[in-house]
Amino acid sequence: VNVAGHPTRTIWLAPNGVTVRIIDQTKLPHAFVIAELASLADAADALREMRVRGAPLIGVTAAYGLALAMRSGASDAQLENACEVLTATRPTAVNLRAALRYLRAALQQVPEAQRVSVAYDLAAELAERDVADNRAIAQHGLELLRPLAEKRARLEVMTHCNAGWLATVDIGTALAPVYAAHDAGLPVHVWVSETRPRNQGASLTAWELGQHGVPHTVIVDNAAGHVLQLGNVDAVLVGTDRTTAHGDVANKIGTYLKALAARDCGVPFFVAAPSSSIDWSLTVGADIPIEERSAREITHVGGRAEGDDDSQVSVQLLPSGTQVSNFGFDITPARLVSGLITERGVCAASARGLAELFPESARG
Ligand code: MRU
Repeated sequence: VNVAGHPTRTIWLAPNGVTVRIIDQTKLPHAFVIAELASLADAADALREMRVRGAPLIGVTAAYGLALAMRSGASDAQLENACEVLTATRPTAVNLRAALRYLRAALQQVPEAQRVSVAYDLAAELAERDVADNRAIAQHGLELLRPLAEKRARLEVMTHCNAGWLATVDIGTALAPVYAAHDAGLPVHVWVSETRPRNQGASLTAWELGQHGVPHTVIVDNAAGHVLQLGNVDAVLVGTDRTTAHGDVANKIGTYLKALAARDCGVPFFVAAPSSSIDWSLTVGADIPIEERSAREITHVGGRAEGDDDSQVSVQLLPSGTQVSNFGFDITPARLVSGLITERGVCAASARGLAELFPESARG
């Protein structure tokens, strides 16, 4: 994706071939800051503090984090420790676990002296795979959207959180078909829900759609049902942090409510689900661990100080001492999902639908 005219990914190797560069997403949309990861601790911190976020990008960052860890010691014990540290950063997105499992298994097979270079190679391989998957999702999703675009002057898509290129290495998952539609000349407009408490919709999705020139409107989360009832939406399109082998979907908190409202209003609800986000070991969404984050994300809100281009401020919203729960994700049951858009095509959100596309991964 181009940022200010320059092709930009969300994570890449620095020219020294060692350190890893990321876009610090906690600074967006008000500042575009590139941060450098030089150690396991840097990578773990970037994941925990959500300088990088979004399931596919979390997976690739963890892989590079393991490569950085191997530079300061590649014994079996150090490998185990690094995997543990990285796994603990974000519990819901399966990409993180899957990436670490993949690298760990490969590194265990090679001598210590080769572990650094093998880890970097595998991290780069996962990054390229993510981009290729998203490119395919863009095309499959575009074919779903085309007929909907014939209904009226504008194609109206609603999304939640950020499942755009910022959530991946490049291109995005849920927003990939939107970009493909826009690039193909379809008049697409996106309803972006702000996505409290961290506001990935308002801060990140609005920013990246704006960078690409895609018309969009931000609404508060609570307005989504109303906008759907007004008949202003042709399709809801969201991402996933973990999809079970039977098609239940864990995604950013608030996704379930959108799926319920979409069903009630007869609007199709699609989930862009690269196979890297499918957990073939689980069938039931209720078994997916749901991340609970700091109360401060709810008690306070951050932003740019009015009339000041540079300073970011944090403002307290709640009475001091108020008890809060900060669930990061919720589960949308497969029955509310109209289809899963994978890199191999679109399928029903069901064991059979997924098994038809991924027979080698589905279990009996
Ligand atoms: O907490 P986040 O910002 O990492 O959550 C991201 C989401 O929920 C996305 O919708 C999901 O990862 C899919 S991203 C392609």
